[in-house]
Amino acid sequence: MTTEIRVLNGEDELIGAANLFRTAMIGFPPLSNLAPGQITTLLEPGRTIGAFVDGRLVGTADAVTSGLTLPGGAVVGHAAVTHIGVLPSFTRKGIATQLMQHQLRDIAARGEVVATLRASEATIYGRYGYGVASSSQTVEVQTARAALRADVGTGGPVRLIDTAEAWDLLPRIYDENRSSRPGTIDRPEVWWQGLRLRTESTPGASYVAVHGKPGSESGFARYRPIDTQRWFVSDQRTIVVEDFFAPTMETYIGLLRFLLGLDLIDRVTFWMLPVDDPLPWLLVDRRAVRVTAVHDETWLRIVDVQKALSARRYEGDGTVTIAVKDQLLPNNSATFGINGVGAEPAERRAELNVDIEGLAAVLLGGATWHSLAAGGLVRTDDQTALSVADRLFAVPNAPYAGFFF
Ligand SMILES: CC(C)(COP(=O)(O)OP(=O)(O)OC[C@H]1O[C@@H](n2cnc3c(N)ncnc32)[C@H](O)[C@@H]1OP(=O)(O)O)[C@@H](O)C(=O)NCCC(=O)NCCS
Repeated sequence: MTTEIRVLNGEDELIGAANLFRTAMIGFPPLSNLAPGQITTLLEPGRTIGAFVDGRLVGTADAVTSGLTLPGGAVVGHAAVTHIGVLPSFTRKGIATQLMQHQLRDIAARGEVVATLRASEATIYGRYGYGVASSSQTVEVQTARAALRADVGTGGPVRLIDTAEAWDLLPRIYDENRSSRPGTIDRPEVWWQGLRLRTESTPGASYVAVHGKPGSESGFARYRPIDTQRWFVSDQRTIVVEDFFAPTMETYIGLLRFLLGLDLIDRVTFWMLPVDDPLPWLLVDRRAVRVTAVHDETWLRIVDVQKALSARRYEGDGTVTIAVKDQLLPNNSATFGINGVGAEPAERRAELNVDIEGLAAVLLGGATWHSLAAGGLVRTDDQTALSVADRLFAVPNAPYAGFFF
């Protein structure tokens, strides 16, 4: 079986790839009601690739150009990888592997430093060098018990906006108030277009609240009611907050007060919050909050190790030497000395040996070197070096992106 991999062009090929991905996912309906030309507003030109067997499209992968924040605030070139799918009748023949390798070489050729994705299954992407670099939690709040402590601030003004207005305003709010938290990603225009399409084709109500005075908004929450069949008489009226963008504490508190204060609502479910979210500390009764799930969020692939390691900040005054091994992108296999000032290539013997997947997991500070060592992702007999590395790679805020793509 010979497979040809190439960039897809034109509406027919792009719609074919989008529907192939949806067929592979099984639970996603086919695209319908796209206006002529609309598919090209949902995908970045030149980044959707297809795998052909005997001239038939059987697999696809896609990426969007973005930026990702490293610890210390540097934003590096980032490929947001998505829409990976192989037709069920062509799986386990190495097609995804060829697509992923082709895409990684393309990302490297573009000079992007990292790639990230969201994984449908946790066993797929480690083999391509992706590691879990951030997690998110789903949190449920019982509003009747959710009084805020007396010293919690008031936050700023919050207003509801028309959902049609949201697609102009939210991208601006997001870009102008970009968070400095590691793991933060840009949200390119094609994603806003995709979000708009999904929101408008989902039946039922949905709302957008923004924080801040008109013209100087600083955050937003997109939310909708769920299980509305018996809404009028229900005593479990629930809203899910699908998108909670609150990069400062003032914005966070303003939006939180608004959501918890909504009439009728018994339960507010935040789909995604950072794992160090402060909510329980703001409440008189911290048991009003329940974490109902913790998910792996950012699967990160370091594409240029030297640039990634030298662009992030390190804490403390120790020094450690690590040897990195990357089977797919061998240029990344090298040894680095790391201290509080930065990271540089080194010639000396390494204390820690790590594959590219393990290094991805610690790059943003979302995992510890000790945990990786326990799982065999770091090889060492030097416990002191692990402790030094953990101090150097520590971050004040847990990494988090807050967006599913
Ligand atoms: C995931 C998917 C793209 C893999 O495609 P594929 O062409 O079958 O993958 P490959 O044949 O290149 O597999 C490479 C290796 O990964 C393994 N693998 C692939 N998919 C896997 C899965 N879902 N779970 C566990 N292992 C998997 C294969 O067994 C193979 O292992 P091996 O090298 O040890 O033999 C395909 O199964 C698919 O489309 N799934 C549904 C859609 C989906 O989940 N997409 C991902 C969205 S994030």
